Amino acid sequence: MKSRLVLGMAAAALLAAFVAPRAKSSPKLETPGPKPIAYTPRAANTLTFNKDIAPIVFNNCTVCHRTGEVAPFALTSYAETAKRAKTIANVVGKRVMPPWKAEPGPAYLDECRLSDDQIGLIKQWAAEGVKEGNPADLPAMPKFPEGWRNGEPDLVLEMPEAFTVPAEGRDIYQHFVIPTGFTEERWVSAVEVHPGNRRVVHHVLVHLDVSGKARELDAQDPGPGYRKRGQGFVSAGLIGLWAPGNVARRLPDGIGMPVPKNADVVLEIHYNLRGKPEADRTKIGLYFAKGPVDKRMRRSEVASRINIPAGDDNYTTTASIPVPAAVTLHAVLPHMHLLGRDIKVSATLPDGQELPLVHIPDWDFSWQNSYVFREPIRLPRGSKVTLAARYDNSAANPRNPHSPPQPVRWGEQTTDEMCLAYLNFTLDAESITQGRSIPTVRETLSNAGEARKKKQAQ
Ligand code: HEC
Repeated sequence: MKSRLVLGMAAAALLAAFVAPRAKSSPKLETPGPKPIAYTPRAANTLTFNKDIAPIVFNNCTVCHRTGEVAPFALTSYAETAKRAKTIANVVGKRVMPPWKAEPGPAYLDECRLSDDQIGLIKQWAAEGVKEGNPADLPAMPKFPEGWRNGEPDLVLEMPEAFTVPAEGRDIYQHFVIPTGFTEERWVSAVEVHPGNRRVVHHVLVHLDVSGKARELDAQDPGPGYRKRGQGFVSAGLIGLWAPGNVARRLPDGIGMPVPKNADVVLEIHYNLRGKPEADRTKIGLYFAKGPVDKRMRRSEVASRINIPAGDDNYTTTASIPVPAAVTLHAVLPHMHLLGRDIKVSATLPDGQELPLVHIPDWDFSWQNSYVFREPIRLPRGSKVTLAARYDNSAANPRNPHSPPQPVRWGEQTTDEMCLAYLNFTLDAESITQGRSIPTVRETLSNAGEARKKKQAQ
C-alpha cells in the first residue's frame, strides 16, 4: 500500500505545489450538518399513519422499500407499514434503518437519517395501535425516476455478453473490457452503474485502460472477461463505482473526469456466490460534461497497513497523508470488510484545527457509501488527512468469517481486510480553461519514463 500512498494525493499535491499560489482568503471551515430535533410526545392517540407517519416513511424509506428495489419488502401503504410497525419502531430506534451509517458531521448529499422527533413519532404511533387516520391526509408518494437516475445517458456501455457466476467457491473478481472507441478525449460528469444481477454483484469499479493490457489479458482468458488479483494493468482512472446504496451523481459544473482517446473501460466486478449459478450482464451509463471543464476530479486514498491478530477484539490503526498544496475535497468513501467496526476520517488544518470528514461508529460492510459533501471542503497547503480504524477479530464478533478467528491481513477476498478511504478532490491551482492544466502523478511519471526511453535510444 505504501507505494500507492506515495502515488496518492501527497504526490499529486506536491507537484501542484510548484504552481500553486498560496490561498489568500481563509478557507471556509464550517459545514454544519442538520440540527438534531428532540422528540416531544404528542397527545395520546392522536397520531395517524396518513397524517404523521406516511410523510416520514415515504420520504425516507420507499426509495429502497418498493417493488424492484434493494429492500426485501415494500413500505408504500398503510397495510404494508402497519403490519411491521413493531419491527420498524425497533430498527429506526436503533438507527439500523434507514441505513445511513455516518454520524452527523459535515452535511452530505442524500443524507438520510431520521430526527429524534421522527423516531419518537414512529415509536409512539406503533405503541398506540397503528391508527390509519383520514385518507385526505395521506401525502402523495414521491416520484422516483425509473431506470437511469440521472436521466438518459449520453452513452451506454454494456458487458459484451452475460457472465455466469458459479454456484460455489471463493468470491470472484472478474474484469470485463469494453472499448469506448472515442476518437478524441471526452470529459465525463457521471458514470451510473446498473448491475445486471443484484443477487451476485457485490460491487463494481469502473476503470480506464489506455495501455491495451486489459485487452490482452481478456484475449488470453477463455470466456467472458478475465480473472486476476488486482487489475493487471495500470488504471488510467477510476471513473465510477457502485455498491448497494450508492447513487452516481453528476459532478458540479466545471469539474470533469477525462476519458482519453481510444480508452477501454474495464469493469472490475466483485461477485458473491449464492449456491446456484447466476447470470450477470452489467451496464454503465456515461454522462458527458455539459459546459467547459475547468478542473479535473482526482481521486486519492489514505490507507493503513493492517495485520490483525486472531482473537483481538480491539485492533486499532491510524494513517495520515500530507496535503502539500491547496485542494478542495468533494467526497470521501471509507472502505473496510467484515471485521471493521469503526472508521473515522478527518482533516487537520495547518493551525491544528480538526475537521471531521466522516465517522462511521458502527461499520457495516453491506453499506459502502460515498459521502459527498454538500459544501466542498477546502484544505489549505500544509493540512493533513488522517484515518483511524478499529477492528474486532474476536470469536464474539458475529460477523467474523473465521471460526475460530484467524490472523487477518490486507487482501481482496471479503474474508481478508482492507483499511482505506478514497478522497475525491480538485486542485485549487488548476484552471484548464486558463491554460493551467496539472497532470496527475501517473501521467508525470509516465511522461518522464517516455522521455528517459527516448534519451536512452539516442
Ligand atoms: C438505502 C436503502 C434503504 C432505506 C432508505 C431503508 N431501508 Fe429498510 N432495509 C433495506 C434493506 C436492503 C433491508 C434488508 C436488510 C438485510 O436483510 O440485512 C432492509 C430491512 C428493513 C427492515 C427489516 C429489518 C429486520 O431486522 O427484519 C425494516 C423493518 C426496515 N428495513 C425498515 C425501514 C424503514 C422504516 C426505513 C425508513 C425510515 C427504511 N427501512 C429505509 C434498505 C433500506
